[in-house]
Amino acid sequence: MSLSSSREQIKTMVRDAADIVQVIGEHVELKRSGSRFTGRCPFHNEKTPSFSVNPQGQFFHCFGCGEHGDVFSFVMKYHHMEFPEALKLLARKFGVDLPERPLSESEQARLRQLEKLYEANETAVLVYQQCLRHPKWGKPARAYLERRGVPTAAIERYRLGCAPDPEQAGWSYLTDQLMAKGLTPETLAQAGLAVRKEQGGQYDRFRSRIMFPIVDMTGRVVAFGGRILGDGQPKYMNSPESPIFDKSRLLFGLHQHREAIRKARRCLVVEGNFDLLLLSVHGIDNVVAPLGTALTRSHIHSLRGYSDEVILLFDADAAGLKAAMRSIPFFLAEGVEGRVALLPPGHDPDSFVREAGAEAVVELVDAARPLPEFAFDALVREHGLTLAGKNRIVSELKRLLAEAADAGQRELMIAHFSEKLGLAPGYFQVPSKAAVPLAKPAPAPITPQSASLSRQEKQVVDFLILYPEYHEELRAAGLTALFRDSTAAWVIELVEHISAAGPSQPEQLLTTIDNETIRAYIIQLLTQVPSGIEPESDHARRTCDELLQWLHQEQQRRDGAALQEQINLAQQHGNAELLMELLRRKQEIGKKRTGF
Ligand code: UTP
Ligand code: MN
Repeated sequence: MSLSSSREQIKTMVRDAADIVQVIGEHVELKRSGSRFTGRCPFHNEKTPSFSVNPQGQFFHCFGCGEHGDVFSFVMKYHHMEFPEALKLLARKFGVDLPERPLSESEQARLRQLEKLYEANETAVLVYQQCLRHPKWGKPARAYLERRGVPTAAIERYRLGCAPDPEQAGWSYLTDQLMAKGLTPETLAQAGLAVRKEQGGQYDRFRSRIMFPIVDMTGRVVAFGGRILGDGQPKYMNSPESPIFDKSRLLFGLHQHREAIRKARRCLVVEGNFDLLLLSVHGIDNVVAPLGTALTRSHIHSLRGYSDEVILLFDADAAGLKAAMRSIPFFLAEGVEGRVALLPPGHDPDSFVREAGAEAVVELVDAARPLPEFAFDALVREHGLTLAGKNRIVSELKRLLAEAADAGQRELMIAHFSEKLGLAPGYFQVPSKAAVPLAKPAPAPITPQSASLSRQEKQVVDFLILYPEYHEELRAAGLTALFRDSTAAWVIELVEHISAAGPSQPEQLLTTIDNETIRAYIIQLLTQVPSGIEPESDHARRTCDELLQWLHQEQQRRDGAALQEQINLAQQHGNAELLMELLRRKQEIGKKRTGF
């Protein structure tokens, strides 16, 4: 058996064992709707549920943002995991034993090295915590934390500690303890906990600092931020990047605050560790802080699974404004709504929450302005509204617009900005990144609802969308001939087209259709199973039989009407021979229908 085919088998085994409704249901409130479950999409901002989970097909699909996939892709997207990690998680959860793939020598060495790095950081937390509790060595740090309003509960929650003063504890206090546990100088240097001396030996990187453990999304400590006690340079020192620490991806507080963020569907971003700490001490837990770097696209991507909107809570200084501007393209590209709340001059979130209280922060956040608007005003302030100024503003905005992931969003912003500047929207035209080729020319936007379809015709169209597998049968019964309405005929043709490629799911229709009105119609149909169509498959069978019967009657009725028309014509033209023939046919049909 080849490696890849056995991998497929393992994947299938785990997928079969996993219950997609249970997995997703742990993170999304799902309601049964027919044979599906629906809820609010965890991957984009929405008020009405367009996220659907299909337990038979074992897949999910969001009709709003288009995210879709199986249980693995859900776990990967939701938890920002790679496939092997998601596989392991699901296997563990549903009791599937994964055969150990023999690792190569170098893979094993690498894994062992990563484990050592985690171990070094975790042990360091314990040492730093111990040190903070130390009657003498921890005294200045405890006093500092107390002065800044950080209570013991917060110290425990964020696992704060301190690196002791070398005058008291020596220059290799941590290093010695970690080496006594068998960790090598190489590991400590790689973890950024020790600095190696040229002449041999090593000393602690962090000394006389409050230590903030930085944890990754699975809760493992991967780095530290260390703040000096009082004044001094550098104010903060962070662990260098390492095989387990990539600061452009991690956000301080995300692990601890993920549930609060998910609950609020809103996340605040502050600049400093103490800002985060003090907000949380005052009961505001939906907050993260980047680790001394500007927000990156991966930061926003990580927040996307938890939160619909991100609010940048910045001091009103120039650096804050610049940082907000720079992050706009990332918000657009990730499709996350960004807003900006500026603090009163002279305040940062830490000082503001202590002085004005949590309610004042919430007020400020509620009033936060959309990032694009905020950016626009900043540009006007910078360039002015002279002709030359407008020109510069347009070219800066065009750069931002080019990053927008979603065409609708881009249009909206262009409309907004062009109106504000008093310019024609054409000034902003930027090549679209997300242009999706049309699979088929869409007909005029009529929906089966608005078109002149009878109730039963609509039922047939709805049924076909939901149960494309019955398409063949209905077609054989003369379906296509019955539908002259362009939309209905088009939908039927699409269903036919898609099912020609094998068994299909209704959701696949959406990947082919980009007529907004029809999409909306299908989405609505898929998220609320329409009346008159029961979801369970024997009901579907029965519905199909009813529809077949109706098709048959309808066919006869139309045949009869056509025949009558011909009879009338023959009468008008006095064609006796044809009239006799037509009347004979009519009689035959009548006999068949009544059974005589
Ligand atoms: P600030 O300089 O804005 O400090 O750094 P702050 O948050 O007000 O700090 P406190 O309140 O005096 O403690 C914001 C963040 O930038 C990173 C840290 O993560 C800090 O929390 N930073 C700052 C560094 O990494 N290194 C530095 O030298 C300074
Ligand atoms: Mn501060």
